[in-house]
Amino acid sequence: MPEFQTSPGMRDILPPESTRWRRFQQVFADVVEAAGYGEIIPPMMEDLGVFQRIGDATDVVTKEMYDFIDKGGRHVGLRPEQTASVCRAFAQHRPLTPWKVFYAGPNFRYEKPQRGRYRQFDQVGIEVLGADDPYLDVEVIALGWEFYRRLGLQQVDLLLNSLGEPADRAAYVESLQSYFEANLDALTEESRITMQKNPLRVLDSKRAPDQAVISAAPKIADFYSPDAASHFEAVQQGLTDLSIPFTIDGKLVRGLDYYRRTTFEFQGATLGSAQNALGGGGRYDGLVESLGGPPTHGVGFALGLDRTLLACDDEGVFAAPNAAVDVFVVDTTGGREALRICNELRSNGISADRAFENRSMKSQMKGADRSGAEIAIIIGSNELEADTAVIRPLRAAITEGSQQRDVARNTLISDVKAALAQAHSTQSPKEKA
Ligand code: HAM
Repeated sequence: MPEFQTSPGMRDILPPESTRWRRFQQVFADVVEAAGYGEIIPPMMEDLGVFQRIGDATDVVTKEMYDFIDKGGRHVGLRPEQTASVCRAFAQHRPLTPWKVFYAGPNFRYEKPQRGRYRQFDQVGIEVLGADDPYLDVEVIALGWEFYRRLGLQQVDLLLNSLGEPADRAAYVESLQSYFEANLDALTEESRITMQKNPLRVLDSKRAPDQAVISAAPKIADFYSPDAASHFEAVQQGLTDLSIPFTIDGKLVRGLDYYRRTTFEFQGATLGSAQNALGGGGRYDGLVESLGGPPTHGVGFALGLDRTLLACDDEGVFAAPNAAVDVFVVDTTGGREALRICNELRSNGISADRAFENRSMKSQMKGADRSGAEIAIIIGSNELEADTAVIRPLRAAITEGSQQRDVARNTLISDVKAALAQAHSTQSPKEKA
């Protein structure tokens, strides 16, 4: 065992899985760029104060931050999410509104690592700042929904709630607090502690003994002001117009403190209940202001890449791509000709790999097989002398129709193109995918 290993909850993403990650981010960018979102790349580390604005009753801030004093004496943190950074950027740069941005990249939370829960994890997300329209909430949710559809995921459930206006929420929290205080004995020790910090979060408890008290607790819907009720109504109506199915869950309070009005979560039906949140978001009117900007409406979501890919594995969709090159060059004359041929192929848009260290023919052919290439180009001393090359089909499906043949060196590229076209035309659709 080597001396150094990745830290707990942190992983190396190796090929071909890393290609799958990149494609995941590309599919996301395609979906949201087509809706007018531009990419923001905030720094991974910021003044700790930025992240503290997420809220002081959330574990993400109080227990899970990676924070330290840098060499200049600044107290900084690694970002646990990117919404706060986007709001800080908005307050700093004051772009025109509505400001529609998307992001992709790693976040850090010191959590207990387990399947689907890591200390470094990736998210893709969008945020829109400066617009209050309920149909914007619908647009945001619909883009998340469309993204799952593009990945091929089918077993995703959308849960929806509204936490009301700040005053509604405050009245609700007060009523919850009195209710839980009156029922303290029936709550678990953990929930009693949570209640002191934020009674809303007790609703999130998955512990069996808490469930009876929670199900009889006051309901947020009874606290909506007319504005909050009509906003929520319009969100539901918009989702129905777009045929996006949803379930209203009055207990959906989410793990971060900044939400006001709409909250939602995408859950993967194939994942265990502890880690089934594929992504979530909502409105956070007020966060920009707390970061020194003007009062600004905000809505967005973040989707966890790691968990979404686990859901893709479960459903057998969006598999790691086949990373094979088109051509593998075998050169038993020292490797210089392979160097030239690879270069020519690549500059003609044909992907190519080769063996190094002047290995034997047998060993190079093994490499060719392993590479998954459609064809091998073989150069031995005879070919080198005669200024020719051998094209050999490597995959079973094409050997029937096309045999190994000698071609002139100066027509090699066009002969390779023809051989590849033939190979692709004789493949089954499954192989092509
Ligand atoms: P969040 O619910 O904390 O929201 O995270 C969103 C998603 O990130 C989760 O549903 C999950 O898939 C993934 N995730 C979170 N923590 C971990 C972890 N330790 N390991 C693996 N995946 C994880 C936010 O981050 C908000 N910023 C969302 C938002 C954007 N709200 C408004 N705008």
